[in-house]
Amino acid sequence: MTDYRERMQRRLDALRDREELNIVAIESSCDETACAVLRNGRVLSNVVASQIEIHRRFGGVVPEIASRNHTLAIGTVVRDALDQAGLRLQDADCFAVTYGAGLLGALLVGVSYAKALAYATDKPLIAVNHIRGHIAANYLAEPTLQPPYVCLIASGGHTAIAYVRSYTEIEILGQTQDDACGEAFDKVARALGLPYPGGPQIERLAAQGKPTIELPKPLHDRDTLDFSFSGIKTAVINYVRNREQKGLPVPREDLAASFQERVCEWMSDNAVRAALRQGTDTVVVAGGVGANGTLRAKMRDKAAARGLRVLYPPLGLCTDNAAMIGAQAYYAVRCGARACGLDLDADADARMTD
Ligand code: KG4
Ligand code: ZN
Repeated sequence: MTDYRERMQRRLDALRDREELNIVAIESSCDETACAVLRNGRVLSNVVASQIEIHRRFGGVVPEIASRNHTLAIGTVVRDALDQAGLRLQDADCFAVTYGAGLLGALLVGVSYAKALAYATDKPLIAVNHIRGHIAANYLAEPTLQPPYVCLIASGGHTAIAYVRSYTEIEILGQTQDDACGEAFDKVARALGLPYPGGPQIERLAAQGKPTIELPKPLHDRDTLDFSFSGIKTAVINYVRNREQKGLPVPREDLAASFQERVCEWMSDNAVRAALRQGTDTVVVAGGVGANGTLRAKMRDKAAARGLRVLYPPLGLCTDNAAMIGAQAYYAVRCGARACGLDLDADADARMTD
């Protein structure tokens, strides 16, 4: 067992300075089965099989159904990614896989599949943290980006502001004390009768309304970079119930616009404040909520007003994909990553600082 890991480590170390480096990356942490092929950190193919339609009827992701559908899809997704990249499996120099955080059963599908590919081809495997992957999506969009910089992480499971010290080290400067922002978008959407996933639906509805409804903003004025979204979420849900009980119409568009405005204002404020505090000239956005147009516009305007550079990945790289996992793996290999043994396990609660 140890022999195997050590042999893989030697193989991985030999790739550090290799001119051409092909990485095959797999992601299956939630409801997207994804595989991407990268050469020298650039994407050759990026295949994502989404299960959104399957889970929509349940109003959210059902973990066991997600795992089963990953099992059904993963073989085809990997084959398609290799075909589109024009790469044979044996031409992969190393494999990368998301080991956490995410749904345990879903993660296990990707982890087991990647271990099997690595073992069968006798190539090293790297375990990548999902949130580190989201951050690394920015390197794909902007190859000139280099740490250190500040990153607003806004996903379905996490909301935090990180100081990205190097390609492999991050520090948390602030984070949500309760719900993640994407989770709040999804719950508010459900209260407004919108289907899963709620974020894009709220954005669409908000475009028809005005942010005129007062919602709470706990912590906002305090000297902290932390967040809390449950108060705003509950306020929206109570507002809807109240109106319905009184038989009054619910101003859904204005509520969506007010919720989106408040949440995006807060996240962009904290992100820019963090960049100024850290003395960095670059602030980047990562995660599914980073696809939100209001958040992007606010980041752009606030960063420009302070002379900061702001970056966000293209929309398709904000939500879950494997290209971002391959990107993080690429920089990890160049910096001296650890090769996994055959005992690699999934970790549903993996912390992004691990
Ligand atoms: O990063 P992600 O794909 O998955 C996790 O790692 O959690 O984020 C998914 C989240 C969902 O909550 C979804 O509603 C939200 O991102 N989202 C959006 C938008 N697109 C996706 N939220 C607001 N506006 C959007 N356009
Ligand atoms: Zn994600």
